[in-house]
Amino acid sequence: MTGLAVAAAVPARVATGDLPLVVGVTAGLGLLVALAGIWVMGRLRTKSIGVMLAVVVVVAVAATLAGVVSIITKMIIEGPTKDFVLSVVAVGGLVGLGVAFVLARRVVGESRRLVAAVRRLPFVAPQGLPAELQTIANTLEEAYAREQALEGARRELVAWVSHDLRTPLAGMRAMAEALEDGVVTDPETVARYHRQIKLEVERLSGMVDDLFELSRIHAGALRLSRSRVGLADLVADTLAGAEPLARAKGVVIAAEASAAVPVEADAGALGRALGNLVVNAIRHTPSDGTVTLRAAVERGVACVSVTDCCGGIPEEDLSRVFEVAFRGEAARTPTADGGAGLGLAIAQGIVEAHDGEIVVVNDGPGCRFEIRLPLVGG
Ligand SMILES: Nc1ncnc2c1ncn2[C@@H]1O[C@H](COP(=O)(O)OP(=O)(O)OP(=O)(O)O)[C@@H](O)[C@H]1O
Ligand SMILES: [Mg+2]
Repeated sequence: MTGLAVAAAVPARVATGDLPLVVGVTAGLGLLVALAGIWVMGRLRTKSIGVMLAVVVVVAVAATLAGVVSIITKMIIEGPTKDFVLSVVAVGGLVGLGVAFVLARRVVGESRRLVAAVRRLPFVAPQGLPAELQTIANTLEEAYAREQALEGARRELVAWVSHDLRTPLAGMRAMAEALEDGVVTDPETVARYHRQIKLEVERLSGMVDDLFELSRIHAGALRLSRSRVGLADLVADTLAGAEPLARAKGVVIAAEASAAVPVEADAGALGRALGNLVVNAIRHTPSDGTVTLRAAVERGVACVSVTDCCGGIPEEDLSRVFEVAFRGEAARTPTADGGAGLGLAIAQGIVEAHDGEIVVVNDGPGCRFEIRLPLVGG
C-alpha cells in the first residue's frame, strides 16, 4: 500500500533512466533492513506473536522508507513533494502498525483461549480459532482422548489383574496352610494340592511375564532381532508346540503352507504372537473341533492365519478383542483355563512392531485371526 502511494506521489519529473538506480538502491537498502529484521526475529523467536507481527510491519515500513529516503536525497524530489512522500509513507506505516496490532491482539487472545481450554479438563477443542491454532487444538483433543482411553485401560488392567492374582493366591495360601497344619493328610489329596499349587504358580508367573512383555511393548522398548524367517517353518514349529494342548482338549490341529513365505522378523517374538492365537483358538474350540494354521502369500502380502471352531465372536466384541484386559464375558470370574486378556494385545504389539497388522473376522463355524506382514522378495 505504501509503495503504491509513493509511486502516486512522485512527480513526473523522475526520468525513466533513473529507474534501475532507484530499484537497485531500494533493493540494496531493503536487503539490509530485511537482514536486520531476520536477526531481530531470531532474537525474539520465543516472544509473543504480537511482537513478531510488529517487527514484520516495522521492517516493511523501514524498507519502504529506506528506498524513499534514498530517492529523496539522491534525486530530484524536494520541498513539499518530499514532505508529501514522507507523510504518505509514515501514514501507511502507522496504518500497517495499527492493523498488525489488531491482528496480534486477536491471535494472542485466541491463543489464550486455547491455553485456558487446555487447563480446563476434560479438554474440548474450542472452535472458531485461526487455522493453525485450530489444528493444534484438534490434535490436542485427539491426543487427550487417546491418553484418557489408555489411562482408563491401564486402571482397568491394574484392577482386573490384581483381582486375577488375588483369587488364585488365596486358593494357594489355603492349600499351603492345610498342608502345613496337617489338615489334609491322605496322600492323594496332598499330591493333588501340590499339583494344583504348581499349576497356579506356573499360570501366575506366565501372567507376570505377559504383563512385563506388554509394558515393554507400550514403552516402545521391544527389541526385535530380525532375520529372514519362513512363515511355513514358523507354522510348523507352532503346530508342534501346541499339539499336546490340542490333544489334551481333544481338538484336531492342522497346518497348511503352500510355500515358504519369507518375511523379515524376530522369529521368537512372532512365534509368541502366533502361539497366543493358537492357544486362544484351542481354548475356544470344543473338543472334536478343528484349528487350522495357514501360511500363504495373498495380494503380495505374507499372511499367517489361525482358523477355529469357536462358534463366532459377537459382532460388538470383534473390534475390542485386541484391547488390553478384554476377555469377552461381562463377569470376570477367573476360570481354570481363563486368561488375563493380555494375549491378543501382546500379539498385536509384536505384529505392529514388525510393520504388519493383525485382524479378526468371523469365518464359517468359528473365527479367523490373520497376521499380515510385508513379504520379502527372493
Ligand atoms: N479364537 C478365539 N475365539 C473366540 N474368542 C476369542 C478367540 N481369541 C480371543 N477371543 C476372545 O478375546 C478375548 C481376549 O483374548 P486374549 O488372548 O487377549 O486374552 P485371554 O486369552 O482371555 O487371556 P491371555 O491371552 O492373557 O491368557 C478372549 O478372552 C476371548 O473372549
Ligand atoms: Mg489369549
